Amino acid sequence: MKAKVTGKVISQSCIAPGIYDLRIETALASEAHAGQFVGVFTKDSSALLPRPISICGVSDDKRSIRLVYRVAGKGTDEFSRLEEGDEASILGVLGNGYDIEKLAGISGSDSSKVLLLGGGIGIPPMLELAKELHAAGVKVISVMGYRDDRTFLLDEFTSVSETYVATEDGSLGTKGNVLDAVRENRIEFDAVCACGPLPMLRAIKEFAGEKPAFISLEERMACGVGACLGCVVKTKEVDHHSHVNNARICTDGPVFEASEVEI
Ligand SMILES: Cc1cc2nc3c(=O)[nH]c(=O)nc-3n(C[C@H](O)[C@H](O)[C@H](O)COP(=O)(O)OP(=O)(O)OC[C@H]3O[C@@H](n4cnc5c(N)ncnc54)[C@H](O)[C@@H]3O)c2cc1C
Ligand code: FES
Repeated sequence: MKAKVTGKVISQSCIAPGIYDLRIETALASEAHAGQFVGVFTKDSSALLPRPISICGVSDDKRSIRLVYRVAGKGTDEFSRLEEGDEASILGVLGNGYDIEKLAGISGSDSSKVLLLGGGIGIPPMLELAKELHAAGVKVISVMGYRDDRTFLLDEFTSVSETYVATEDGSLGTKGNVLDAVRENRIEFDAVCACGPLPMLRAIKEFAGEKPAFISLEERMACGVGACLGCVVKTKEVDHHSHVNNARICTDGPVFEASEVEI
């Protein structure tokens, strides 16, 4: 069930230039899964809409969530000043996440190989996905793409997956993007899951070809709960709710099978 709740900040740290790791104790944690997101409200009463931030982690006791975000503007700048003990107003849990059971069985045998591709601030949601897939017995291969060697969360991927890195400037791993790293390391997989900038997702959709590809679309959002149609994406199939070839990213997604959406 979606609810607006008040969470309590447990900790916050800066983990790379402009990137923050925020942990919030909230009842929403018991329902949060990889690929879903929450809306975090600012204290500025002129900014009514919450900022969507993906679930990067859920604590083992299911009492807190972890959000890793980049300071992009006023809202995220305000969040970066939250400290232990502060209250945070959150709407959640929003959207449909990854189907772990489907991914675990995707090869048709009991050893599916799932490739996770994350680019920039699309990396945080991939970490919770890597953990949930690993716990379900899936062989996880992660390829994370950064601008340079100022990486974040990378060491945490290595504990649950075979991990590769790509950097735009070549200072670490493969020089280039995540697909350059997949090709360079001749990585084989049964399905691919990805989150990152739209051009990266388009390239991944084409690269995946016949293989199942699941992409997380992090477009601009307004209401976050399916009411304003501010986040639609064109779909192959007619939506049985609106009777048009559209889906709402905030409620039907943000995770979609790549073959189902036009991006
Ligand atoms: C489903 C979803 C999940 C997201 N998860 C994360 C996450 O885990 N970590 C994270 O850092 N960010 C995430 N984002 C992006 C995040 O919501 C925006 O960066 C944030 O809302 C910006 O708010 P602001 O008030 O700081 O900046 P604003 O003042 O609103 O905007 C500042 C700048 O950021 C750009 N911007 C705003 N929203 C987006 C967006 N959705 N995508 C791309 N650019 C945007 C604007 O064009 C502008 O240039 C996610 C977005 C969505 C829709
Ligand atoms: S943001 Fe309002 S419908 Fe998706």
